[in-house]
Amino acid sequence: MSIVFTPLKPGVGMQVTGLDLRQPITPEDQAVLSAAIDEHAILLFRDQHLTPEQQVAFSRPFGDLNIHVHQRMVTGMPEIIVLSNLIEDGKPVGSANCALSWHTDGTHLEKPVSISILHCVVAPEEGGETQFADTRRAYDTLPAETRAFIDDKKAIHSYALLQQRSFPDRPLSEEKKRAIPDRAQPIAFPHPRTGRKALYLGQHVIKGVVGMPDDEGVELVASLVRHATQDEFVYCHKWQPGDLMMWDNYGTLHRATYLDVDRQRRRLHRTTVNGEVVTGDVVGG
Ligand code: OGA
Ligand code: MN
Repeated sequence: MSIVFTPLKPGVGMQVTGLDLRQPITPEDQAVLSAAIDEHAILLFRDQHLTPEQQVAFSRPFGDLNIHVHQRMVTGMPEIIVLSNLIEDGKPVGSANCALSWHTDGTHLEKPVSISILHCVVAPEEGGETQFADTRRAYDTLPAETRAFIDDKKAIHSYALLQQRSFPDRPLSEEKKRAIPDRAQPIAFPHPRTGRKALYLGQHVIKGVVGMPDDEGVELVASLVRHATQDEFVYCHKWQPGDLMMWDNYGTLHRATYLDVDRQRRRLHRTTVNGEVVTGDVVGG
């Protein structure tokens, strides 16, 4: 079988056919996929139905896998984050409706994560879709003056602010705040492997822009997010069990659409590849 790429939508992402991800993939196929994620940023594979072990085995060749300290996990598999509204043995198996605003994963980390891999185990009938925006195209299509204005600007990404907005009842402890300081990341973010620039942003995680009054910085970021998430750059994925979406966090934004947790059932497993490059600087105390 040979690997075939078909656009998910003109100019946004590719569907990949011709691979069975339950089997170890050859070094040649691995090289094709690594090049494809760098080129297209958003890849979909259908009908895969991976066990957590198979998902981890598929993910590992892309780099070291991230172990997220805050999230619920499949027992014995710390590399897997479970996103779900389901209850098993009286306990939530994962987090639900926790990613409703545009973001890209791990922007607050010293080495921001590179690729995320999300696999659908149980798909809702309605809602709970995931939308992806190609922020490289968004950058390329900005007016030249805007590109010149943002090219040396850095946005301040604050995990504490994100946590406060997402879970107001669970503020970060002072110790965690110190462990996860605010970080200034380039808005026009050069891809660590390809050098191609993309808008590197988030809706709820950004406090301001270095060198600008806070309200102006926040407004600049909001207008760039609006530009990046217009229809033309966005692919919306309606999940089916067995789907696997893989995206490059350096060249995309994503968000979930609302899920009616009382009526729908959803379970997705995520693996995440660690970044290798320090891209920003710590700000504040
Ligand atoms: C994620 C994420 C969105 C969703 O896994 O990083 O943001 O639709 N998921 O669950
Ligand atoms: Mn996410």
